[in-house]
Amino acid sequence: MTANITVLKHPLIEHKLAILRNRETDNKLFRSTLEELSYLLVYEITRDLPLQPVQINTPLAHCDAQQLAEPILLVPILRAGLGMVAGILDLIPSAKVGHVGVYRDEISLRPVEYYFRLPPDAATMRTFLLDPMLATGGSACDAVMFIKKRGVKNIKFVCIIASPEGIARLQKDHPDVSVYCAAVDERLNDHGYIVPGLGDAGDRLFGTR
Ligand code: PRP
Ligand code: URA
Repeated sequence: MTANITVLKHPLIEHKLAILRNRETDNKLFRSTLEELSYLLVYEITRDLPLQPVQINTPLAHCDAQQLAEPILLVPILRAGLGMVAGILDLIPSAKVGHVGVYRDEISLRPVEYYFRLPPDAATMRTFLLDPMLATGGSACDAVMFIKKRGVKNIKFVCIIASPEGIARLQKDHPDVSVYCAAVDERLNDHGYIVPGLGDAGDRLFGTR
């Protein structure tokens, strides 16, 4: 494993990942568990966020304190990345949210873009690009290319499960983007699904299949 991929290990992360993987998990539990897991992942990933000094008054006295130094941007890749946003906003309520609409054509497995919207000052923000699944890596690479075109430089890709193929592709095309996940699975099957994986994240999240 190269330096640019981090598999986050924690008993609660393992426990919640098992719930997501389980085919018996219904849409409601899948949704709430994806939110909770995203919260835990981002809690770990944000350990190195820069701080700046700030002076405040407590009810009792003047106090030197610290606050986040840079604005944070969350960019979910539609649709399934949407399931990660609420959990992370619970942790970082000041974050802004952009959207990239990309779906994977089921025959060619190539990404197709259909929506793109970022805040005007996106280029100045630390960006977390969100998608539960990094499979062939096509959607992630496409989304990174789009946000880079808008001047965004500081990008961390946060997913739940990655495939070795997806990691290799993202690192080859965008070596500056660090990848964070809860697990790296064995392989892709002939339809580009991650095995063992968790199935189709968007369908399980929104109940569309
Ligand atoms: C899934 C997933 C990723 C993509 C990963 O989305 O959420 O965006 O596939 O596959 P890749 O790495 O091979 O590109 P999907 O295309 O099913 O769209 P959806 O979220 O709208 O269901
Ligand atoms: N997209 C998914 O939702 N799941 C996979 O396993 C691969 C791509």
